[in-house]
Amino acid sequence: MTDLAYLSCSIGKKDALWEAMTIKPLIILPDPVLRQVSKPVEQVDSEITRLADDMLETMYDAPGIGLAAIQIGVPRRLLVIDVSKEDEENKPMVFINPEIVGASDERSTYEEGCLSIPDYYAEVERPAMVAVSYVDREGKQQTIQADGLLATCLQHEIDHLNGVLFIDHISRLKREMVIKKFTKAARSRAV
Ligand code: NI
Repeated sequence: MTDLAYLSCSIGKKDALWEAMTIKPLIILPDPVLRQVSKPVEQVDSEITRLADDMLETMYDAPGIGLAAIQIGVPRRLLVIDVSKEDEENKPMVFINPEIVGASDERSTYEEGCLSIPDYYAEVERPAMVAVSYVDREGKQQTIQADGLLATCLQHEIDHLNGVLFIDHISRLKREMVIKKFTKAARSRAV
């Protein structure tokens, strides 16, 4: 699904209609770009809100529930999330310079996936609740207390800003197998 979206997006680049849309190609494992540590956003200006909009479109198109800027090759501390259910209205959330300022001792386990590691899923255990401080789309400082899927998603996306992937939280054996598989796939794409 993601691979197809990526392909049609690359092909469509020459097309004016596609250019009007703002779906960006996703960076896929094992691209070393994913291991970069992103830099803070200094000012919430039109460039940043445009980037957030592009990220939301890219995320909805994939489709996914979260995306960090580095996943479209931009090393800035910015992420977008929408954990609304399929039958609910979209609820896009933008987090600029997000930081975990509190985490519960209680932990929860979710089966995670990542748009940069398409079609691979694994269970990851993380704190069940987190408090996250961030700057919103309007440039205001905010704090959110999150639990459930949102808590997991925030932690997964904030990891991306530090060059960390969810496969870093699984066993070394499993991680090495995934990386090997994606390295092979990248090589065959390059041929
Ligand atoms: Ni991810």
